[in-house]
Amino acid sequence: MPEPLPLADVDLADPDKFLDGETPWRMLETLRREDPVHWQPEPAPNSGFWAVTRHADIVAVDRDPETYTSTRFTNLEEVDDDQIAIRRSLLETDGLRHQAMRRLLQKPFTPRAVAAYGDFLRVLTRRTLDAALAKGSFDFVEEVSADFPINVLARMLDIPEDDTQQLIDWGNRIIGNTDPDYADVLLHSSESEAYRNLPFRSPASLEVFAYGRKLAEERRGGDGTDLVSLLVNQTPKDGVPLTPTDFDNYFLLLVVAGNETTRHAISHSMLALIQHPEELAKLQADPTLIPAAVEEFLRWASPVYHFRRTATRDTTLGGKEIKEGDKVVLWFASGNRDEDVFTDPDTFDVTRKNIDHVTFGKGSPHFCLGNSLARLEIQILFEELLPRISSIRLTGEVPRVRSNFVNGIKKLPVEVTLA
Ligand code: HEM
Repeated sequence: MPEPLPLADVDLADPDKFLDGETPWRMLETLRREDPVHWQPEPAPNSGFWAVTRHADIVAVDRDPETYTSTRFTNLEEVDDDQIAIRRSLLETDGLRHQAMRRLLQKPFTPRAVAAYGDFLRVLTRRTLDAALAKGSFDFVEEVSADFPINVLARMLDIPEDDTQQLIDWGNRIIGNTDPDYADVLLHSSESEAYRNLPFRSPASLEVFAYGRKLAEERRGGDGTDLVSLLVNQTPKDGVPLTPTDFDNYFLLLVVAGNETTRHAISHSMLALIQHPEELAKLQADPTLIPAAVEEFLRWASPVYHFRRTATRDTTLGGKEIKEGDKVVLWFASGNRDEDVFTDPDTFDVTRKNIDHVTFGKGSPHFCLGNSLARLEIQILFEELLPRISSIRLTGEVPRVRSNFVNGIKKLPVEVTLA
């Protein structure tokens, strides 16, 4: 790993610094060492944020939703009350209402419920791999990493497989709103003002809403067990039904969260194995190591760089004075490379033990609902893939998503030799 960057060169607000797959890690290392709770200025109209980069501080904030609320939004945008009213999802709800909304979908995401998907996941993986491996040379992102999780989500939502490419495009446009290849208009450009009332400032959000509402109408009053039916046919425990806006944003959250993140986790894991052939060889020699190795994949990949909270009162963190209303940003990716928690954190080691990563958050009521599913998807994919190949190599550049939010890989061109 190259040297950390000088503190003066650190700018976590600039998506251009996230294009090479290396600078983000150098910036975060500098901050952990020199200024672990760092005030990061941002371009107007945003006001700047505290960057929390050490594992212990990230966990302390994540565990304390009373002091660090999610209700003022979890991305970096500063949004007024009108906008919040049309854009709030489970992720931006706290307290009892959050618990009640989350419980609507708790069951299908428990480890036990997810384990029951195992056979289906294996069949789907094989189908994905059959098609990709037959080509010999292919883009691993398009053929495998994107294809597999979206088909799992399609099954959970009970929607036609023909619609999956549309869901992928929506996810790209919504999450990639700082990347010119994906965005309808770039976030913070003058044009993006026209979209300031849309979630993620993307017209794609309205398309997702319309798609979700149609499903909701079709399933209302039925006895389906898919995620949409569970949302429209249950009343939350607090007795307050989901409003149409609650449903819109819940549905959008699922489409984005169940698609983008797992895709990038798979791509990063594959890239890491290509770049560390000795680690790949260990897993091929002993596939029983794969389930535990998934935790190292997740630590290494850190598909979500950060989530943001907002201070509800004046407080201190890491010796810094945080004021009520300040944005406090948890750099999960940095916590995953914290030298105080991980020995040789910049070493990719598939036999690493006791991996206390924060990839899905830690201790928060918002801890990733889909974590068991994501873990099983990644495990099954590599259990099915690795015995089928004797070698895999990169055949071109690996472009990254221009984003300081999602740690994404756009293309992973590979050539495989079958075993
Ligand atoms: C929340 C990461 C896969 C659904 C989150 C959070 C993170 C995260 C960091 C917020 C945690 C916090 O604030 O403390 C990831 C990563 C994934 C992944 C890295 C893949 C490797 C999934 C999948 C689904 C999903 C497959 C569903 C199909 C959700 C939902 C929330 C969430 C609904 C909001 C939970 C709440 O607010 O209570 N995820 N996620 N995620 N994730 Fe995931």
